[in-house]
Amino acid sequence: MRFDILTLFPDLFEGFLSESILSAAIASGRVTINLFNIRDWAHDRHATVDDRPFGGGPGMVLKADRVVPCVEEVQAMASPGHLVMLTPTGRVFNQRAAECFAEKQRIVLLCGRYEGFDQRISDLLSPDELSIGDFVLNGGEVAAMVVIESVIRLLPGVLGDEDSARTDSFSSGNRLLEEPVYTRPREYRGLEVPEILLSGNHQAVDAWRQEQRLLRTRQRRPDLLRGGDPGAAKDAGCPE
Ligand code: ADE
Repeated sequence: MRFDILTLFPDLFEGFLSESILSAAIASGRVTINLFNIRDWAHDRHATVDDRPFGGGPGMVLKADRVVPCVEEVQAMASPGHLVMLTPTGRVFNQRAAECFAEKQRIVLLCGRYEGFDQRISDLLSPDELSIGDFVLNGGEVAAMVVIESVIRLLPGVLGDEDSARTDSFSSGNRLLEEPVYTRPREYRGLEVPEILLSGNHQAVDAWRQEQRLLRTRQRRPDLLRGGDPGAAKDAGCPE
């Protein structure tokens, strides 16, 4: 699977791409990631990528005449990918969208900074506008990392079997939060591991885990038990 990231701050991705599961996925050839600096499409003397908003107001707006040619050129480098614009005004990303993205050959991620993108970027390119939650980041880079990480762990062979993503909370067919887990020591600062986990009775352990999942979900995320995601009407479904 191929990701192309369009950003003003490609260096932000350095550590992210060179560590752990993602770097192994890249080394194995299962994932390819290309970084492009939007500023390389600014041909004026000051390499301008943003300007003041028409009508006044705070902050700077990313210029359509930099971003649109950048996206078009990157898209033309291979069979065009699913274009994602990271923005707090997009529909909310979730596990279902991650599952759907994992089926795609290529995803192009457009990261903004400043006050936002000139609206004509969306008008001309019709990107899939995605938010990773109801909070505002300084830019789309961290959001792009969230999307990439949640997608690549679903690709065959990326996680070892013991880390399998199949049973993750929020995956299709599992709408429960994960149960509490424990490892050695059996007692720590007076807190004991639940006896049942030491019993060796696998059926009883499974039943306990399921009960804990239900209990946790009821306490922390009752909305999941009602069958809807928060914001289900506008969540990130499965676009073409
Ligand atoms: N850029 C700034 N805030 C964001 C968010 N919540 N999701 C995606 N991109 C963003």
